[in-house]
Amino acid sequence: MMQGPMTVDAIRTVAVLGSGTMGSGIAHVFARCGYAVILRDIDKRFLDRALESIGKNLDREIKKGKVTEPEKPRILARIELVTDLATIARADFAVEAVPERLELKREVLAEAGRILRPEAILATNTSSISITTLAAATCRPDRFVGMHFMNPVPVMPLVEVIRSKQTSDAAFETTMRLCEKLGKTPVAVNDSPGFVSNRVLMPLINEAAFCVMEGVATAESVDTVMKLGMNHPMGPLELADFIGLDVCLDIMEVLQKGFGGDAKYRPCPLLQEMVAAGRLGKKSGRGFYVYEK
Ligand SMILES: NC(=O)c1ccc[n+]([C@@H]2O[C@H](COP(=O)([O-])OP(=O)(O)OC[C@H]3O[C@@H](n4cnc5c(N)ncnc54)[C@H](O)[C@@H]3O)[C@@H](O)[C@H]2O)c1
Repeated sequence: MMQGPMTVDAIRTVAVLGSGTMGSGIAHVFARCGYAVILRDIDKRFLDRALESIGKNLDREIKKGKVTEPEKPRILARIELVTDLATIARADFAVEAVPERLELKREVLAEAGRILRPEAILATNTSSISITTLAAATCRPDRFVGMHFMNPVPVMPLVEVIRSKQTSDAAFETTMRLCEKLGKTPVAVNDSPGFVSNRVLMPLINEAAFCVMEGVATAESVDTVMKLGMNHPMGPLELADFIGLDVCLDIMEVLQKGFGGDAKYRPCPLLQEMVAAGRLGKKSGRGFYVYEK
């Protein structure tokens, strides 16, 4: 008979699949908390870039007094960079953070599920794909869970922990406790389009875009209203530029489709137009605002 999933205290080694913005942040946080990390990407150059960015972010944490100078090399030494997926067989827990494409995630998760030990738990950092759908792509749907970290991972305290229809209580509890061990605050959420974070945030951004499109106010004015009037640290349009307008549009489309075409999730035509024009926000140099290259 198969034993239950990993208990939180038995977890020593964590695999992180994908070493981009989120994967590198997730690897950083696990290594800082003493875990051995196996960081996997498809090309060595992405892994080198990730390690460099983790080093820079650790320097920032040293300046803030969160990490000491002598700890830095020890933290970095806990991160093993690999391109061979078979290496993750040693992991007790794995977090997938590859690009937000259903077919790619299905493929990576199915393969990782086969390689991991039976008691290991597999988590996905997807922002919008159904955890229940992704669970079905693995051979371990009961040991599969959503672990939605926020960007930048070393800084943001929240992790939305999402249970699918198939997630076992034990795997869910282990994941919640693991977030606490990382110094994060986990919030339990059931699988539903956009979970809580994006279901609430994206319609706010979308509505802010409607205000600009209809000439109610400029982007600067909309952001000022939300910052000074609602105490938001960033205005919704500034935040949209930071997230990427293409990502915002994709998530609005996921919400619209996931809620059966409900008009309240209709993407703002201005957002669609800006994405079509390649004005994707900070990463492309122009979105609601213009950025220095
Ligand atoms: N960026 C954010 O603000 C944010 C926030 C929360 C959640 N997410 C989610 O996190 C996930 C990753 O997003 P990101 O912004 O880090 O993307 P990214 O493009 O910065 O990084 C993805 C990395 O995965 C690598 N990759 C591609 N195929 C792979 C494979 N088969 N195996 C291993 N690595 C592979 C790529 O080379 C790249 O380095 C997505 O699901 C996204 O929706 C993103």
